[in-house]
Amino acid sequence: DWTMAAFRAEAVARIREQVGEGRVICGLSGGVDSSVAAVLIHEAIGDQLTCVFVDTGLLRMNEAEQVVTLFRDHYNIPLIHVDASKEFLGELEGVSEPEAKRKIIGRVFVETFDREAAKIEGAGFLAQGTLYPDVIESVSARGGPSVVIKSHHNVGGLPEHMKLKLVEPLRELFKDEVRALGVELGLPPAFVGRHPFPGPGLAIRIPGEITREKVATLQQADAIYLDEIRKAGLYDSIWQAFAVLLPVKTVGVMGDARTYEDVLALRAVTSTDGMTADFFEFPWPVLARTATRIINEVKGVNRVVYDVTSKPPGTIEWE
Ligand code: XMP
Repeated sequence: DWTMAAFRAEAVARIREQVGEGRVICGLSGGVDSSVAAVLIHEAIGDQLTCVFVDTGLLRMNEAEQVVTLFRDHYNIPLIHVDASKEFLGELEGVSEPEAKRKIIGRVFVETFDREAAKIEGAGFLAQGTLYPDVIESVSARGGPSVVIKSHHNVGGLPEHMKLKLVEPLRELFKDEVRALGVELGLPPAFVGRHPFPGPGLAIRIPGEITREKVATLQQADAIYLDEIRKAGLYDSIWQAFAVLLPVKTVGVMGDARTYEDVLALRAVTSTDGMTADFFEFPWPVLARTATRIINEVKGVNRVVYDVTSKPPGTIEWE
């Protein structure tokens, strides 16, 4: 009988056998896969594991803090938290083209990770949260490089002298099984049940040039949107929901004054694998509440629109 408890025990034994007395580095992205991989490996080898969390500054509001709290304080897993938001935002300055953004983020991510990993003495292994679908389809649906650590398969990005061997305990699992394993390992169900989040993060949800201010605006609006979705009990019925900050200003009226501010687009889709998707049919009151709150609470936004494009012909992300 194949259960998650059995998988867990087997995986722990396999990791111990592979790693022995060696030291393992695990790149945390803030996402579900790398988190589950890290907790599983920590269960197997304890403090022989060090996690490196490259914080791009492009995560959702408070997510970086949540990852740090969960790993460092709750699980007591050795964690290096690299705040690289200055580097990422600096390199992205003036860049508008979506694939150029992806390339920059991928490069800065690898550079930052390598620099930190090289400081961990005697590391012999690199852990990745690679899933089965990543194994069979090693190129992202977009064809663009993905920033998540799993995309540099063969440690190609790591300094030559390190020659790390890969530890990939989730290679046989699908997403739903990884979530079940995460719960089995004691991760909070709300944490492992989170929607997929792209490696380049909020950078591809700000069409045009990215600034720290725009990232902050988007984080606030996105947090309100997800809060309303959760309050309405709809989070688990949706594959992915997020806001997009458009590089468009429109005229509005606030009190008796004219406003001229940014437009925010809301996106929510249902899907089974992200390859095709339908726009989510919200009850109107949920969208209405979200729009009112965003316009009232987020400075600089005076209009909210909802994206009713399915995939195909649209993609899920706007970039
Ligand atoms: P699209 O926009 O292509 O997205 O319909 C399909 C799924 O892939 C995610 N996505 C990415 N994930 N790096 C990632 O790690 C990327 O560059 C990237 N682009 C899109 C998207 O969020 C959706 O889940």
